[in-house]
Amino acid sequence: MSARSRHANPSFTVRPRRVLDDDETQRTPIERDSLVVFAYQQSDLCDPKRHDRPPIIITPHYHHHRTMKRDKRHIPVLLDQVLDVLAPQPGQIIVDCTLGLGGHSSALLERIRPDGRLIAIDFDPANIAAARVKLERIRGRFDLFHTNFAALPTVLAQSGIERVNSLLADIGVSSTQIDDPARGFSYRKPGPLDMRMDPTRGQPASVFINRMSESELVEALLTLGDETDAPQIARLIVEHRARAPITTTEELTAIVCAARDFTIERGSRAKLHPAARAFQALRILVNRELDNLDRLLKVLPDVLKPNGTAAIITFHSGEDRRVKAAFRDGARAGTYSEISHEPIMATDDEQRLNKRARSAKLRWVKRAYPSHPTP
Ligand SMILES: C[S@@+](CC[C@H](N)C(=O)[O-])C[C@H]1O[C@@H](n2cnc3c(N)ncnc32)[C@H](O)[C@@H]1O
Repeated sequence: MSARSRHANPSFTVRPRRVLDDDETQRTPIERDSLVVFAYQQSDLCDPKRHDRPPIIITPHYHHHRTMKRDKRHIPVLLDQVLDVLAPQPGQIIVDCTLGLGGHSSALLERIRPDGRLIAIDFDPANIAAARVKLERIRGRFDLFHTNFAALPTVLAQSGIERVNSLLADIGVSSTQIDDPARGFSYRKPGPLDMRMDPTRGQPASVFINRMSESELVEALLTLGDETDAPQIARLIVEHRARAPITTTEELTAIVCAARDFTIERGSRAKLHPAARAFQALRILVNRELDNLDRLLKVLPDVLKPNGTAAIITFHSGEDRRVKAAFRDGARAGTYSEISHEPIMATDDEQRLNKRARSAKLRWVKRAYPSHPTP
């Protein structure tokens, strides 16, 4: 089924759960769209089971104007290396687990069209809307799913696909998420302490920071952020929230700076912002990033065709370790016939152009021909 014909199916469309009142209808289309998202998120805020529900395809009009502008700044990380590794060919079926703004996806779709098929997934409805605009310019066949990539087997089953030629996952946060203060990812910009990549599901970061015990905070800051000042930061968080809940990015930045003996001013001039690690830890926690990656690595052998290739890009040592271990174990078990022994990194030129590429590591595997036949 093509993206268009699926779209016509009302059961796959996110619909607003609240009728806009008079005041709201006076707003611009962009603001109205944001309210629709907000209405959707409120009713599902505390229902963790939503992560396991069937994927939904979102409406194409979502945040259209805003995302067109953002698109121009977007540089996909390690694009040449991804194309080298996956070697996409006309007619192939490819899954992009992290569509983002569609940088990698559009390059892949260009190469598999006209008969190939791209299945692309993202947590973030606004990113899907932006990517849709980009992909629609390419005359290729694609389906977009607003869901967790951990639900990949369900997505493929819904698409009538058993196995794919290639899979890409460019794990982590996108620049649009970091840059938008309203999303609450940035220690440099004031906003609500949210950090959800999918603002329609789960709990915002403020809920975590105000509810976790001091020892849980220390553990999270240490393991997910490599933050050596974790005990001091956790102590100050607990003292601060005893007076009033922590609800904004500014408050958390101020607490972390104080715990690490930085003034806000000196912190903002530091090469690595003193709050960077704490924010990273909280973001990974809120979005269950390690858990989702583990689930993807587990299903990977079952979704790749024999000789099919997967490429995974990570930005954090905890993620890279998991990918490396899963690929090495799979090679030992005979599940993978080839694996990358060293991670592929961005060239100096790319690192100069794109700061984010500096910490990117790409690892790949090739699915072995199983001893028993696969469909
Ligand atoms: C680094 S960006 C991807 C950029 C993309 N490759 C491009 O070229 O535009 C990562 C994207 O993955 C999404 N994401 C992260 N974890 C996810 C998950 N578990 N399921 C679905 N999407 C996820 C984020 O919302 C974000 O849009």
